[in-house]
Amino acid sequence: MTDDAPDAPALGPTGRPPRPIPEPKPLTSHGPATVIAMCNQKGGVGKTTSTINLGAALAEYGRRVLLVDLDPQGALSAGLGVPHYELEYTVHNLLVEPRVSVDQVLINTRVPGLDLVPSNIDLSAAEIQLVNEVGREQTLGRALYPLLDRYDYVLIDCQPSLGLLTVNGLACADGVIIPTECEYFSLRGLALLTDTVEKVHDRLNPRLSISGILITRYDARTVNAREVMARVVERFGDLVFDTVINRTVRFPETSVAGEPITSWAPKSTGAEAYRALAREVIDRFGT
Ligand SMILES: Nc1ncnc2c1ncn2[C@@H]1O[C@H](COP(=O)(O)OP(=O)(O)O)[C@@H](O)[C@H]1O
Ligand SMILES: [Mg+2]
Repeated sequence: MTDDAPDAPALGPTGRPPRPIPEPKPLTSHGPATVIAMCNQKGGVGKTTSTINLGAALAEYGRRVLLVDLDPQGALSAGLGVPHYELEYTVHNLLVEPRVSVDQVLINTRVPGLDLVPSNIDLSAAEIQLVNEVGREQTLGRALYPLLDRYDYVLIDCQPSLGLLTVNGLACADGVIIPTECEYFSLRGLALLTDTVEKVHDRLNPRLSISGILITRYDARTVNAREVMARVVERFGDLVFDTVINRTVRFPETSVAGEPITSWAPKSTGAEAYRALAREVIDRFGT
């Protein structure tokens, strides 16, 4: 077959023909949730942006979604317009004070069907506070357990490290989505991250696997980005989502607006990209 065969399908940015993804079916009941950790120990690769916008797009498809901010920077909370510095309760209370209930911590966002467990800088003490606890890696899982029946998806926005907080996220997840940029240094980081996911799988959570690699902040005009894309696809194959999030200034703008791009600029290509990702996620998890 040659590239100019009349019926050759157009190749997507990943270099493969995009697979047809069915339109999600409405759900007639909700839960138990699929828990997904959004994880990459590199900062600035689009974890938080993807957590907010994938969450909002899943909610548009009628899924009940809980977002968990597991980064002391609180960018997920801020990105949803929650004034995180003045919160009475955050995920930190859930982790270190067993008497605090999830309902005291939970916040409804302005997006229907999208709730948030916020965080702020208080969380930075948690790694030290948890060190002597028995079962410290499962603290988040224990705290979230009562909520799982109420949601279809729980997305955990991990901090840029592979420390105890991130291990807590991985230990209670069914899957990991790895947002990554297409830069050479990202490739080495991915190897370290897949090792960590394997260790958590073997030692703490046999349900855990990598659910997808999400290429973010992509600029197809640079040769370097296209080369790294090819390497990522070669290494991870079908795990790489067909949906690729292109680099656009609209995303930094939405962080300032404190809203997902799906409501702030609903017709933008960025919003459409996260809807396409939501369809792929629903197709992969079957809910
Ligand atoms: N597709 C994109 N195009 C341009 N800028 C983006 C894109 N995705 C995220 N950003 C911006 O990049 C910065 C880092 O993104 P963020 O989601 O906070 O990464 P992380 O959570 O991995 O640290 C933010 O300023 C964000 O607005
Ligand atoms: Mg972040």
